[in-house]
Amino acid sequence: MKIKEAKYELTAVQPSQYPAGNLPEFAFAGRSNVGKSSVINSLLNRKNLARVGSKPGRTKEMNFYNIDNILRFVDLPGYGYAGVSKSKKSSWGEMAEVYLTTRKQLKAVILLVDIRHKPSADDIQMNEWLMINNVPYIVSATKSDKVKRGEIKNRLNEISSVLKLSEINKPITSSSVEKHGMNMLWEAIENNLKSDEIIL
Ligand code: GTP
Ligand code: MG
Repeated sequence: MKIKEAKYELTAVQPSQYPAGNLPEFAFAGRSNVGKSSVINSLLNRKNLARVGSKPGRTKEMNFYNIDNILRFVDLPGYGYAGVSKSKKSSWGEMAEVYLTTRKQLKAVILLVDIRHKPSADDIQMNEWLMINNVPYIVSATKSDKVKRGEIKNRLNEISSVLKLSEINKPITSSSVEKHGMNMLWEAIENNLKSDEIIL
């Protein structure tokens, strides 16, 4: 996809603050520090549009990015960061859950998992939640620059097996450092945009 202009639109913590209108939206979910904001920047060819944290747990709200007035990316708060108090953790979860269950124009979630690790209990829970709630989603195994080429296949197989992903929903390997996998992710996003009748 050729992007002319991608811009930060607003930050929200509740539905009354979500952007108006009905542009299709793609939300990025995953553990704190997994690379959600980085992948948004890589997909948009921008260095610092979405804020990348040096400390995990940085993105505490939902940030909306408008792409050519055609679609939006939504950077969801990360889950599973141990340094955050329980009450704060659940308010983040709630925030994301409210968005994911109520947002009519949500087209799909891009669920990021770290290619180096077996999906965490939180990843498994998120994956199941998306499945049960019939939210279309794409899994991307990111930070692939951190593993040896020869190991990638094994890592993907383990992720697919732990998350019980079907053959058509295999994880897309990505790296925001090497800008790897961005075309595949865009392709998945565009396919999703085109297939209204199937996913609605
Ligand atoms: P929260 O907002 O805290 O939930 O984190 P996030 O998921 O948005 O992660 P973010 O994009 O801020 O990245 C976290 C850290 O991982 C940063 O130090 C990034 O530079 C690094 N990082 C992100 N993607 C990659 C990648 O593909 N490869 C490598 N090696 N590092 C990455
Ligand atoms: Mg972030």
